[in-house]
Amino acid sequence: MGKKIFSLLLIAISLHGEGVFRKAEGRGFPGYEYESEKHWAGPFQFIQMADCQLGFINENRSWDEDIVLLEKAVSHINQMKPKFVILCGDLVHAFPKAPMREEQIADFKRVVNTIDETIPLICLCGNHDIGNHPDRASIEMYEEEFGSHYFSFWVGGVQGIVLNSTLIWDPSNAQDLYDEQFSWFEKQFSENSPVHRLVFTHHPWFINDAHEEDWYFVIPKERRIPFLFLMKNADVSACFCGHYHRNALADYEGMPVITTSAVGKQLGDDVSGFRIVNVFHDRIEHEYFPLAQ
Ligand SMILES: [Fe+2]
Ligand SMILES: [Fe+2]
Repeated sequence: MGKKIFSLLLIAISLHGEGVFRKAEGRGFPGYEYESEKHWAGPFQFIQMADCQLGFINENRSWDEDIVLLEKAVSHINQMKPKFVILCGDLVHAFPKAPMREEQIADFKRVVNTIDETIPLICLCGNHDIGNHPDRASIEMYEEEFGSHYFSFWVGGVQGIVLNSTLIWDPSNAQDLYDEQFSWFEKQFSENSPVHRLVFTHHPWFINDAHEEDWYFVIPKERRIPFLFLMKNADVSACFCGHYHRNALADYEGMPVITTSAVGKQLGDDVSGFRIVNVFHDRIEHEYFPLAQ
């Protein structure tokens, strides 16, 4: 009898501990598929954020300060009640297999699980989550921890496409996965006709100019231009990125490339925050929201 009560208690605890965190599965995000979300249901708001990167502020010695910032973001999210939240990579600072990684991931999940359960959180991978030179093993590790490394989702008639941009930044250790992602990406544009297509990556495609030189913070030109060309031709309404730990706004022949600063550590003159995005049938509006506001 006592054993039975104990196992019921365990089930109750594990159910309670489930929280808001969900993994993308296969090439989709559970509950946000084309079939159920293909119809426009009026304007809505979502939050795009990036680089909570637990561990960056104190270089992995501790991550209490990063946690406080992520908690602030969660408390704003719970008040604002957006349709969904998308977190554009660098969830934790410790690279795959680093000793403190598991602990950072546990803390990350503990904090994001306090997001109101009616607000889905969609995560994508950054270079810290899969390593700067990802290979099959580091990507599989991420998929175990956080879910698929590229996928699409649908919300109220809008198609969101999530890419693994670290793989585009350096495909050399997983060329087959890069090729698979590229041909999958091309196919996303031939099916269905959403009100908007939005593309989310960790790395910015560029900061100021589509033809700027290659440097650490942007996708190399050799692969940047083919992707931009595809997106522009497919009428992508906007690209949202992180990784820069600063805000930047640019466009490719009229297609906005929006880089959002970090929830966590800043590398420029911005302050910790996230971006509020309002989706209307005929336009996208967005504004950076400092956490201290
Ligand atoms: Fe970052
Ligand atoms: Fe990054």
